[in-house]
Amino acid sequence: MKKIAIFASGNGSNAENIIRYFQMPGRDGRVELVVTNRRDAPVVGRAARLGVDCEIFDREQFRDGARVIELLERRGIDVVVLAGFLLMVAPPLIARYRGRIVNIHPSLLPKFGGKGMYGRHVHEAVVAAGEKVTGITIHHVNEHYDDGAVIFTASVAVEPTDSADDVARKVQELEQEHFAAVIDREFIAPSRQID
Ligand code: GAR
Repeated sequence: MKKIAIFASGNGSNAENIIRYFQMPGRDGRVELVVTNRRDAPVVGRAARLGVDCEIFDREQFRDGARVIELLERRGIDVVVLAGFLLMVAPPLIARYRGRIVNIHPSLLPKFGGKGMYGRHVHEAVVAAGEKVTGITIHHVNEHYDDGAVIFTASVAVEPTDSADDVARKVQELEQEHFAAVIDREFIAPSRQID
């Protein structure tokens, strides 16, 4: 059984969906741990309700990485999933989990990526630029923001009348549809056919 840690800073809709997906019978992995930098983030309550441990570190501890790595090793974590995690991941942690650390970004990278581009800011920029299409990018994490090898993309049309909220809703649907299954296929059970 492979063990997943989810790093999240906010609402946690992706974290919840991934936890639920891997709680279904017959999976080869499970979410062992949620890690956050915000004690008051909704993701903390979601993890508790689903019976998943949640650990909180401050910004400095994430920057340094040592205590976070120590926790991941102690809990036998195989795969690290960034799901709306807004701090930089320490380079030693990235090195330790190279090829086993994945992020989701709510646009079609390299468009609307980079520093400051997260959550709602991305959808506002998409609408302001008059984009006709947007989507999600699931990618490996390296030491540079939004830069690791792409694993999966899915796209959705942006209508001229769409607000940033409309775009957010469409992108969130793509996230709910694909993120957990892509994690499963790529990192947990790559040799098994997944429907
Ligand atoms: C998601 O839309 C995710 O793609 C995005 O933050 C949101 C988190 O939502 N990530 C980024 O923007 C990373 N740069 P959630 O907390 O409800 O899962």
